[in-house]
Amino acid sequence: MAVSRSLGGRVLASALIAGSCLLSGAQAQYYKIDTVEEIKNAASTLAYDLMTFYEGNQTGKIPGILPGPPDDGLGDYYWWEGGAMMGTYIDYWHLTGDPSYNHVIEQGMLHQTGPNFDYMPPNHTASLGNDDQGFWGMSAMLAAENKFPNPPDDQPQWLALAQAVFHTQASPERHDDTCGGGLRWQIPLANTGYDYKNTIANACFFNLGARLARYTKNDTYLNWADKTFQWLWDVGYINHETWDVYDGGHVGHNCTDVNKAQFSYNAALLAHGSAFMYNYTTGSTRAKWEVRTDKLVDGILRFFFKDGVAFEVPCEGHGGCTADMLTFKGYTARWLSVVTQLAPFTKEKILKTLRTSAEAAVKQCTGPPTGRRCGFYWSKGEFVDPVVDHTTGAGEAMSVLAAVSSLLIEYADPPATNETGGISRGDYEAGVNSKGPNFEDHKPITGADRAGAAILTIMVLVGGIGTWGWMSFAD
Ligand SMILES: *[C@@H]1O[C@H](CO)[C@@H](O)[C@H](O)[C@H]1NC(C)=O
Ligand SMILES: *[C@@H]1O[C@H](CO)[C@@H](O)[C@H](O)[C@H]1NC(C)=O
Ligand SMILES: *[C@@H]1O[C@H](CO)[C@@H](O)[C@H](O)[C@H]1NC(C)=O
Ligand SMILES: *[C@@H]1O[C@H](CO)[C@@H](O)[C@H](O)[C@H]1NC(C)=O
Ligand SMILES: *[C@@H]1O[C@H](CO)[C@@H](O)[C@H](O)[C@H]1NC(C)=O
Ligand SMILES: *[C@@H]1O[C@H](CO)[C@@H](O)[C@H](O)[C@H]1NC(C)=O
Repeated sequence: MAVSRSLGGRVLASALIAGSCLLSGAQAQYYKIDTVEEIKNAASTLAYDLMTFYEGNQTGKIPGILPGPPDDGLGDYYWWEGGAMMGTYIDYWHLTGDPSYNHVIEQGMLHQTGPNFDYMPPNHTASLGNDDQGFWGMSAMLAAENKFPNPPDDQPQWLALAQAVFHTQASPERHDDTCGGGLRWQIPLANTGYDYKNTIANACFFNLGARLARYTKNDTYLNWADKTFQWLWDVGYINHETWDVYDGGHVGHNCTDVNKAQFSYNAALLAHGSAFMYNYTTGSTRAKWEVRTDKLVDGILRFFFKDGVAFEVPCEGHGGCTADMLTFKGYTARWLSVVTQLAPFTKEKILKTLRTSAEAAVKQCTGPPTGRRCGFYWSKGEFVDPVVDHTTGAGEAMSVLAAVSSLLIEYADPPATNETGGISRGDYEAGVNSKGPNFEDHKPITGADRAGAAILTIMVLVGGIGTWGWMSFAD
């Protein structure tokens, strides 16, 4: 399924890319990003355009998510991408000072917490990976670090939500001895991909741990982060010479069948978390994280930026990027920009590259009907309609918004901690007693429930295979 999708995409992409070269009268470049004012204006328009994909604040629609999920035929986007978009706007506000979307973001962030305030809403069990939950948790953490306005007192607070996600992921039922440790990709036992231990799930957990450690100064988080990074290293998902970061492996092979596809968000998330560890620790421990941060950053700049322009290597060359993958350039820009604040020794090389990349990104934002619509092929320098990627373009829009607004990082406050101005209230009990989808211990099962459960299992399986088709990079 994944293969035929991307083959179809490839053929169509080549045809359209070839066709677009024949069109005369290319649009003039719309965005200018030479001065701080121009960057803010460009970011403001890009933020407006991205919001046009979001229906969550309209009457009768569900706050927090982009239209979807695909498995239910409701739209192009999985649940997690809504959480990632919330984070993009939390950074947008932090970097530009424009609060226009804050109410929409707060509403979405709070609506999707699920009944236990741990970002495991029952509606999305069929695609509930540790990474999906992790992306929402990282957006909550970001809200705490950026001092995003606190929710009303009777609502869950940002820091507590991030802790809840972390605590559920640190609980014994998410950890087993296969492959010597590490989190599985999926949370529900029945989901396809439960047998896959991948980098992104563990990178989200590592990243949250590093950030919670720095924010709260509680070494329980530090120890988990340390252990998780070490596991990724030991199992060979990080190449010991090149620092290339691979996708994952299966428990049936003790994770030795490493899928070597490299996606930018895996490496960028590890670099970002390492910078938090570097910034928080001292002495020889800091020296260790300095090396890790530096090596990962160098690897990213070498592998994912072609002549200083972001290029999503595994999928971009042949028009095979899924809706998920079209967002990765955005996280890479945002996370690398924060690395420059926490590990200033990386600043010069990162900022130089983020600028050349953003310039290329806006150069191709010339699509109809506005004359400023963005595509994904930044190094080409010309707009290719998102239709070739089988999406309606939210990923493309989110990536360019992130690339442009991240140029303002030099003027923004670094991530706050509880001791340096943080205003979010935490809760060490958050999520501790949550029962995830594998622990439905409610009323005795009746005949009718049993039939219902069987149907649910079938739906979960079908849904899981759909998710696998979009998100798996194995085979
Ligand atoms: C949804 O939010 C956008 C952006 O703030 C705004 O323009 C629009 O009016 C809102 N729609 C509703 C129905 O509140
Ligand atoms: C779950 O899905 C139902 C049906 O689409 C919807 O009405 C409800 O708002 C959703 N709940 C959440 C928390 O998104
Ligand atoms: C499985 O992999 C882990 C981590 O690489 C290793 O420590 C362990 O010895 C391996 N187990 C077997 C049975 O090969
Ligand atoms: C955060 O700081 C406040 C005082 O500003 C203190 O009351 C609280 O205990 C601190 N929380 C943590 C987790 O250290
Ligand atoms: C540190 O965090 C853990 C939860 O991860 C909590 O159980 C523990 O009480 C915290 N320690 C302190 C000193 O607050
Ligand atoms: C940690 O981050 C702060 C905030 O950006 C920065 O001022 C400081 O220099 C960093 N620490 C180290 C050791 O680089």
